[in-house]
Amino acid sequence: MKVDVEYLEFLWPVKTYLITCGNMASKANIVAVGFCMPAAGQPPQVACSIGKAFYSHELIEQTGEFIVNVPTEALKRAVYYCGTHSGRHVDKFKETGLTPLPARRLKAPIIAECIAHLECVFVGKLDTKPYTNSDLKPNIANKALFLGEVIEAYADEAYASGMLKVEHLLEGGFPRHVYGLRFK
Ligand SMILES: Cc1cc2nc3c(=O)[nH]c(=O)nc-3n(C[C@H](O)[C@H](O)[C@H](O)COP(=O)(O)O)c2cc1C
Repeated sequence: MKVDVEYLEFLWPVKTYLITCGNMASKANIVAVGFCMPAAGQPPQVACSIGKAFYSHELIEQTGEFIVNVPTEALKRAVYYCGTHSGRHVDKFKETGLTPLPARRLKAPIIAECIAHLECVFVGKLDTKPYTNSDLKPNIANKALFLGEVIEAYADEAYASGMLKVEHLLEGGFPRHVYGLRFK
């Protein structure tokens, strides 16, 4: 069962998130993001960076919404897959076996296997300057900072009683493990 939570308890520096976007009925997509930070308190807002050429970028602008899902170590292979394939070419739910479930208020699905979900209305984006200090391809180097207002925050009941100890989600090298995979 999912219960209401304090969204801040699920944001932690250098964690990894799975953002869902699009529509549960058609064109639902998942993108891995390495950071998601609190950006405002009242109303609560979060910020994350998403590549300008990415399918999720396009879907979020079209639909005006996205959902931040919190994965655990057990999902690291799915996180890696969602972070290395584009929804333009594959159905990431189908390929990873992750289960889409209806969200409370938005059209995008949540991911059943994730422990917490922040439903966000897209507030706006800020185009940022491309990364130039690496050999990143232009489609990866050009990003924009997305801002979302958190309208619902809920989690599996097991993770919602009292203060969440997010540290234990980092045990076993997650998400560093996923970044490790990335360069293999
Ligand atoms: C662990 C991990 C973290 C990532 N973090 C980000 C991020 O914060 N911002 C970003 O734009 N891309 C990030 N990526 C890359 C995207 O997830 C990836 O390019 C994805 O294929 C884009 O999918 P889409 O075209 O379906 O939107 C990350 C990838 C991995 C594996």
